[in-house]
Amino acid sequence: MGNRENFGSRRAVIYAMAGSAIGLGNIWRFPYMAGEHGGAVFVISYIVATLLVSLPVFIAEVTIGRRSRTSSYTAMRRLDPAHKAWRWAGLLSIFIPMVILCYYSVIGGWSLFYLFKACAFDFVGTSPEAAESLFGNFISSTWTPVGMHLVFLAVCAWVVARGVKSGIERFSKLTIPSLFILVVLMIAYSLSLPGASQGVRYLWHPDLSALNVKTFVYAMGQSFFSLSLGMGAIITYGSYVKSEENLVVSSAGTAIFDLMFALLAGMAIMPAIFAAGIKPGVGPGLIFQGIPFIFSSLGTRLPVVSSITAILFFLAVVVAAMTSVISLIEVGVAFLGERFGVARPKACTLIFLICGAVGVLCSLSFGPLSGFTLVGKNLFDLFDWFASNVLLLLMSFIVVIFVGFFMKKEDVWDELTNGGRKTLNAKLFNIIYFLIKWVAPVCVLSIFVTNFIL
Ligand code: PHE
Repeated sequence: MGNRENFGSRRAVIYAMAGSAIGLGNIWRFPYMAGEHGGAVFVISYIVATLLVSLPVFIAEVTIGRRSRTSSYTAMRRLDPAHKAWRWAGLLSIFIPMVILCYYSVIGGWSLFYLFKACAFDFVGTSPEAAESLFGNFISSTWTPVGMHLVFLAVCAWVVARGVKSGIERFSKLTIPSLFILVVLMIAYSLSLPGASQGVRYLWHPDLSALNVKTFVYAMGQSFFSLSLGMGAIITYGSYVKSEENLVVSSAGTAIFDLMFALLAGMAIMPAIFAAGIKPGVGPGLIFQGIPFIFSSLGTRLPVVSSITAILFFLAVVVAAMTSVISLIEVGVAFLGERFGVARPKACTLIFLICGAVGVLCSLSFGPLSGFTLVGKNLFDLFDWFASNVLLLLMSFIVVIFVGFFMKKEDVWDELTNGGRKTLNAKLFNIIYFLIKWVAPVCVLSIFVTNFIL
């Protein structure tokens, strides 16, 4: 294990993990999920789920990763060789990111298309109706979205092929701060639009009659998705964290960063959605219909500023999506390398070919293949639902049960305190341990079950 690459510093760890966590989940998925599931009640459920359940699961995953110092496929078996069944958990942790990769990179492709549109100054003067039909026509067409998805995935695979340090680390350090600044600027503008206050109300004033179990199910699924949990990504990244690093601090830092980012993205988008008169529950197209409206209305006042901001914004979205996709690919690459000795570039090519091909089907499910539905969902929605509301919960459940019941408590203490060297308050440790061992499994299991009953 001596030659395993490590992240350089604390900041690098948080940036790389935040780079995986912050992505389309925050900018694209969170606003539309909140819009579909009652606004503020969803937002509050999401915050509670993140702090109470996802953060402990996150800590459990990095603990497994760093203690085993291996890919998520072998991690649990290495820590508990007595039970062969962990092998299946390992396989699941490789399978899930590959499922997500297939459809996530389709959205990455959409963002790329919007970046090109922004570069062509196409948003200046678009009406909300035009933005809506641009989006509808684009996703239901055949070649452009497929091409965009493939280009996007190919670039990500190329970055991963270059390795952890030079590729992933450098990439994330640069992009996360820029995205942050852009979103804050967009909030300022979005809030100044007429009718924006309704959007703010929608996000922050809970209508308790809209609260139901489904809201929680989706909020927890969203929270896991957003923190890249339940799919080996954080286990794999955990294995690159140096032994002197304080795991609790880096995990909490990443979770809070990610949470804030989703809320900020919501604040940038929702007021604009209301100002444009778009219904918040339109689904996956929400930001692609809402954001152009911000730029078109800004464009009538300040065309140059609007065009530049639009370009920078979509560039940042593309890059945020890339850092997430990179971490998805990294899970597969680490597996293929350690299990079969496949070299990085070859592993990247293989993943590109398989996930690229399945992704093409997901992309076409908005157009030529829209007739293929199962339980009322097209292929894309089916992948998304199955991954976030079934697979992620299942894998997260396994992870917390593993740490809570199959790892010795002393080992978890040892890992979280770096062999007793880092002063992690014993009381805080006990709270975290209790959340991992009891609260998280009970919540995840009950939500998993209700998901099927609903
Ligand atoms: N967490 C990422 C996001 O919010 C998505 C992702 C999932 C990335 C799983 C890596 C692994 O967009």
